[in-house]
Parts: sequence; structure tokens; C-alpha cells
Amino acid sequence: MRVAVTGGSGKLGRSVVRRLREDGHEVTNLDRVGARGPGFAEVDLRNYGQVLDIFLGLEDRHAGFDAVVHLAAIPAPGLAPDAATFENNMQATYNVFQAARRAGIKKIVYASSETVLGLPFDVDPPYIPVDEEYPARPESTYSLVKHLEEQMAIQLTRWDPELSITGLRFSNVMDPEDYEEFPSFDHDPRLRKWNLWGYIDGRDGAQAVARALEHGQPGFEAFVIANADTVMSRSSADLAAEVFPGVKVVKELGEHETMLSIDKAKRLLGYAPEHSWRNYHSNRTTPTED
Ligand SMILES: NC(=O)c1ccc[n+]([C@@H]2O[C@H](COP(=O)([O-])OP(=O)(O)OC[C@H]3O[C@@H](n4cnc5c(N)ncnc54)[C@H](O)[C@@H]3O)[C@@H](O)[C@H]2O)c1
Repeated sequence: MRVAVTGGSGKLGRSVVRRLREDGHEVTNLDRVGARGPGFAEVDLRNYGQVLDIFLGLEDRHAGFDAVVHLAAIPAPGLAPDAATFENNMQATYNVFQAARRAGIKKIVYASSETVLGLPFDVDPPYIPVDEEYPARPESTYSLVKHLEEQMAIQLTRWDPELSITGLRFSNVMDPEDYEEFPSFDHDPRLRKWNLWGYIDGRDGAQAVARALEHGQPGFEAFVIANADTVMSRSSADLAAEVFPGVKVVKELGEHETMLSIDKAKRLLGYAPEHSWRNYHSNRTTPTED
């Protein structure tokens, strides 16, 4: 497929662009920063004219796209004034969704976020593991935008029954070098309780994008995308019992099983995470292996 990846210069985007190219897709990275070259075009996604124009074609480069992967955003609360986060992220996503529709692109995969599940869980989650089955609980402007984007996707896919939009609610994105500090999380179970001790390896995040491009159906679906394990050495059941004593644990948890449920993504997308920080530490002599 000819795929436009917005935010392809970013942390998750770099893994996604690499993976989709390895899979044989023709990928163009649309970002406001990046190294000039044939696979990159400088676009400010806040500008609707630019987004629509590039979706329709680019001189000497391409004549349109089959699919859009939309990752560009200010990627967390607290990085910019709340109003700037709202303005950038909401405007960019409206422009991407709307221009894709106008350009006749029927497949969109985009980065939602684990934050809509109620992070930082100052209020207890309704149950553990959390999943896609309860209404969103955004607790920041950043997360509010992620929630509004999902609501927008529901309406746009209702307007166009052929349109497929997949929202991937990514956990905290990690690259292998980030695994160095993981063992230090162990001493305080509350340090990473804000996202139920979850994480997503960028390469597994990219796998989820690839699978969503392949398996996404018309309509809107949201998926929690995390790794299969937690960031902790202690057992998941222990952590849940100590830090969230009043919360019902609704399934028997494997030793280090994620408490951000990936069951729906496994079932409907065939998502199967391959990387774990544990392998990185057990393969210390060959850290590039994982
Ligand atoms: N990093 C995480 O832990 C995490 C967790 C959950 C969800 N997400 C989501 O995943 C996506 C990617 O996150 P990331 O960590 O790779 O972020 P990042 O900041 O590393 O990359 C984002 C990219 O988007 C580009 N961008 C932002 N606004 C733009 C605009 N108006 N026009 C053009 N380009 C623009 C930036 O230049 C940057 O290259 C985001 O949507 C983020 O909200 C990230």
C-alpha cells in the first residue's frame, strides 16, 4: 500500500516507518521536522490546505495514498500549555481525518492513548485488567483530545460506511535503550502505578499498526496496545492487591501479565507482542537483540 505516516520522525513513528517499509509498503513520512529525502515531506498538519494537498499528490513523488497512519501529536500532558496541546492535536487530527475523507482514502489507523482509560488512576480503575469496555475517563487536556478524536471517528465512520478508522490506545512507548532503567522501578510499586505498570515496545507498537492496516474493518474500533508483561519484577496479582486493594481483579493474572488488557487486539487484529524488557536484561551481552 501507499501509506502516509504522520509524525514519522517521532519516537513511535520511526519504528512504524521502518516496519511498514520492511513489510513492503511505500511509506511517506509527513512531519514538520525530518531529514529531507524521497520518503519525507515537510507538512504542518494544522494547515488543512497542506494536508489535503499532500493527500492528493506531491510533485515528482506520489499521486495519492491508500491509507493514512496518523501519529503526529504533542505526545503527553505537560509538554506544552494545555491550550496549545488542544489546538495542535485536535486541529491536526480533524484535518487528517477530513482530508482523508475528501481524498477518498478509506483506511485510517491512528494513535489514541492509554490515558483515556483513566490515567494516572488517582481514581481507581473500575476493574483490573482495564480494557475497552468502559466509557473513557480522560483526566487531562491531552487525554480529552484523544477521547474527542475517538468520538469524531465514531461519527465519521457512521457518515461513511466504507471508512475504516482504528484507534490504537498505546501504552507508554519504549525503545530498547529505555530498558536500562526498568529494574529501578521495582523499589517503589507506586512509581509506575499511573499506567498500571504498562509499556509498549516501539517495535510492537509498529506491529500493531501493521496489523491494523491489514485487518481494520469498516467502522471504528479502539484497541489497547501494550506489551504482554509489566515493567515490574513483582507479580501482577501482588501489585494489584497492594496498590489497588479495593479494585476487583476480573481474571487470573499470569505472573507478569499486563493489566492493560490486550485481549481484544489479539483477537481482532492478531496482535502478538514479541519484545520484552526482560529479554533485554537477560541478553545483556547482545543488547541489540531485544
Ligand atoms: N510516547 C508515548 O508514550 C505515547 C503513549 C501513548 C500514545 N502516544 C501517541 O503516539 C503518537 C506518537 O507519539 P511519540 O511518542 O512518537 O511522539 P513524538 O513527539 O516523538 O513524535 C510526534 C511527531 O509528531 C510531529 N508533529 C506534532 N505536531 C505536528 C504538526 N502539527 N504537524 C506536523 N508534525 C507534527 C512532531 O514533529 C514529532 O515528530 C502521538 O499521537 C502520541 O500522543 C504516545
